[in-house]
Amino acid sequence: MTQDQLKQAVARAAIEYIKPKLFSDSIIGVGTGSTANFFIDYLGEIKSQFAGAVASSDASAARLKKLGIDVLDCNSVTELVVYVDGADESNAYLHLIKGGGAALTREKIVRAVSKEFVCIADESKWVDVLGKFPLPVEVIPMARSYVARELVKLGGTPVYREGVVTDNGNVILDVYNLQIIDPVGLETRINQITGVVTNGLFAAQPADVLLLGTKEGVKTLFPR
Ligand code: A5P
Repeated sequence: MTQDQLKQAVARAAIEYIKPKLFSDSIIGVGTGSTANFFIDYLGEIKSQFAGAVASSDASAARLKKLGIDVLDCNSVTELVVYVDGADESNAYLHLIKGGGAALTREKIVRAVSKEFVCIADESKWVDVLGKFPLPVEVIPMARSYVARELVKLGGTPVYREGVVTDNGNVILDVYNLQIIDPVGLETRINQITGVVTNGLFAAQPADVLLLGTKEGVKTLFPR
């Protein structure tokens, strides 16, 4: 199976997973990226079974709208029944690295508003220790160099993602060479640096379930 087929399989599995949780007035949180895109496309098939979605990026919002799915402002919603999104890495605790697509801040907001976070990923994202994938950090443009110096003090090697401006008008530093043995601690520490909007560690609020696409089929994993 190709990586795209594995992504399609987990996207399909996510539809089956969320279907019993949906009511006609349910609002769903929808993520960003190639795996989330497959999910959005399948979501179109069951659009009569829920009320609408809150998207974690402008790109996902446009894709949802194209399928005739109502996209709501996050501020008009008290709770999302479920949030479905991909990840760049997951460990056995379902601590994640996200933000490869630069949507990490809105993803974290959607996650915070959601009752349940269903992560969908192919098996290449499964790791023992987070950090091989460079950790994205969204930064206020004026603070870029200062934040980079602070990240070096934490042992990382930050690289400015040139040419990328987030949906919030900020920039991204990708932090290489981290071996993240304390994901909750590092998430908190980096978020305390002045000028950081947020970082791509989803450890304080990890995924609730991971649908992992493997050659043997889709595995449903809960945090260790
Ligand atoms: C977007 O900012 C990310 O958090 C994505 O969820 C992550 O990069 C996974 O993307 P793919 O599904 O394209 O691998």
